Amino acid sequence: MSKRYLVTSGLPYSNGRLHVGHIAGAYLPADIFVRYQRARGHEVCFVCGSDDNGVSIEIKALSEGRTPQEVSSHYHDSQRRSFEGLRIAFDVYGGTHQPGFVERHERMSQAFFLKIYEQGYFTKRSVKQLYDPRAERFLPDSYVRGTCHHPDCGSPRAKGDQCEQCGRLIDPLLLINPVSEITGERAVVRETTHWYLRLADFEKRLAEWLESKRDSWRSHVLNFALGQIKQGLPERAMTRDIAWGIPVPLEDPEARGKVLFVWFDAPIGYVSFTAALCARRDGDENGWKRWWCDPDSEIVHFIGEDNTVFHTLIWPAMLMAEATISLPSAVVANNFVNYRDPASGEIRKISKSTTPEQSPVWVEEYVRKGLDPDALRYYLTAIAPESARSAFDPQDFVARNNNELVAALGNFVNRTLAFVDRYFERRVPDPAAAGAAESELRARGVAALERVGAHIEGHRYRAAQDELMAFARDCNLYFGQREPWRTRKDALPQCAATLHACIHAVRVLAVLCAPFMPGAAQRLLHQLGVTDDLRWALPEPLPAGHALGEPQILFAKLEPGCMGDVA
Ligand code: MF3
Ligand code: ZN
Repeated sequence: MSKRYLVTSGLPYSNGRLHVGHIAGAYLPADIFVRYQRARGHEVCFVCGSDDNGVSIEIKALSEGRTPQEVSSHYHDSQRRSFEGLRIAFDVYGGTHQPGFVERHERMSQAFFLKIYEQGYFTKRSVKQLYDPRAERFLPDSYVRGTCHHPDCGSPRAKGDQCEQCGRLIDPLLLINPVSEITGERAVVRETTHWYLRLADFEKRLAEWLESKRDSWRSHVLNFALGQIKQGLPERAMTRDIAWGIPVPLEDPEARGKVLFVWFDAPIGYVSFTAALCARRDGDENGWKRWWCDPDSEIVHFIGEDNTVFHTLIWPAMLMAEATISLPSAVVANNFVNYRDPASGEIRKISKSTTPEQSPVWVEEYVRKGLDPDALRYYLTAIAPESARSAFDPQDFVARNNNELVAALGNFVNRTLAFVDRYFERRVPDPAAAGAAESELRARGVAALERVGAHIEGHRYRAAQDELMAFARDCNLYFGQREPWRTRKDALPQCAATLHACIHAVRVLAVLCAPFMPGAAQRLLHQLGVTDDLRWALPEPLPAGHALGEPQILFAKLEPGCMGDVA
C-alpha cells in the first residue's frame, strides 16, 4: 500500500556556510530516507529552506555592515548550492525571509500565532529583561552569556536560551554574571512586554504522545524530552524586541515594534514552504493540508541534536494549540560531527575560527574542488553520528574511499564488466548453466534489499550502508570462488553463468546504492546499458545478448592530500 511522507530537514540559519557536520546531521540521512521511500513507491515531499529571521542574522548583519536581507540572501544561495552539489534534492528549498516565500510565510506564521492567541494559550506578561545600555537595545536570549544556573552544571559560558554544556533550557534572568555578546558590557535588567506560550498546559499530552513513541524513536531523544517534562516546562516568550523578523500580528499598542520569536516562525516554514510548492506545482497553496493535516501522511523531522527541545516539545505544543496540523510521526535527531586534526589527532568543533577557509570540510569548497559527492556521502554515512558524536577525519575519509568504495564495491563492478567486455563482446552471457551458487547469490541480493530497507526504515543509516558493503564483499567472494578466468578455458557455459549472475548483482547494487550514492547508481545503470527506475525490488535478470554500456571507473582513488592541509 502506498504511503505518504512529508519529510523535513532542520532549516539552517542563513548566516554562514554549511560544513560536513551539518550535512551528516539533518540533511544526508533525510535525503537517503526520501530516496528510499520513493524507490519503494511511496509518495514523498521533501521540504527545507533557510531560517532567515531572528537575532543571529541581525547580529551578523550588524557586524558586517550589511542588511539582514543581504546577509540572509547571500547565505541562502550558498547553502542551496551546497545541497545541490551533494545531490541533496529537496522538492522545495524555501527561505523564511526570501523573495517568493516571505510573503506567504509571514501570513501563515501570523495566522498560526493568532490561532494560538485566540485559543488562550498565551499569557501576556510585563517582564524584566536583560538590556545592553551601550547598544541601547534589549538583549535577545542568545546574545547573553553567563554561568549556567543549573547547579549541577555551572558552565561559565552558557547562552541565554540554552546551555551548550548540559543542553537544558536557560532562564536568562537566572544566568549568573550576564554579559552582552554585542558589546561585552554587563547586561542590566529592564521592563518589557511579551506573549508567553504556556507549555505547562501541554505537559500531560506531550508526555502521553512521547510515551507512544517508545518502540520507534531513538531512546536518547525520547528520554531527553520526557526528562524535560518531568522537570516541568517553563512558559516561553514567543515574541521578541528586535527589528528583523515577522511583526507580531496584534492590535495591542504594546505589541508594536515587536516580532515573533524565530523559533516560533521557523518550523512554520516547513508548512509555508510546502504551501509555496503546492502553489507552484498545482496553482493551489491549500494543497499543503493534504501533507500536513491528513492522518494518512507521516511527518518526519530530521534535525541536529541542538534542535531536540524545539522539535519534541515546543513545536508539538504549538501544533497541539493550533489543532489542525498533525504531530510528527518521528523526530530523527543526530549528534554533532567534530573534526579530527590529522596532524595532532586532536578533536575539535568545526567552526570558522578553527577550520581554514579553504578546507573541503566546508561543503562549498568540497564541491568547488570537483570531488565526488558520493565519496563524501559515503563517508558521512559511515561515520553517521546516530547515537554519539563522531569525528570527521580527512585521512580516514581518503582511506575509506580507497579501501572500501574503490577496493570492494568498485572492484567488483570493474572486474565483472571488464571481463564481459574482454571475453563476451560486452554482451550479457548466457545463464543456461546456472546452478546452486548462482541461486545463492541471487538470494543474497534479496536479503541485502530486505536488510538495508529495514535499517533505513529504523533510521539506522550506518548499519544500512554497512549491509550494502557486506553484499558487495560477498559478490567479490562469489567472483573469486567461481574462478571465471579458469572456467573460461575449460567450462565456458559455467563461466557465462557466473558472469550473468555477477551482472545481475551489479544491477542489484545499483538499486542498493541509489539512496546513499545516487551518482554511482546512475553510473552503474549507464555501464549496464539500462535505464532502470531503481525501484526497491530485485531487478529482472538481463537477457543473454543484451549489449552493455561502456565500462567506466565507478569511484576515483583519492590522494592523501586531497582534503587539504588543515592548520
Ligand atoms: N535554524 C535552526 C538551527 O540551525 C534550526 C531551525 S529548524 C526549524 O539550529 F524547525 F525551526 F525550522
Ligand atoms: Zn548547563
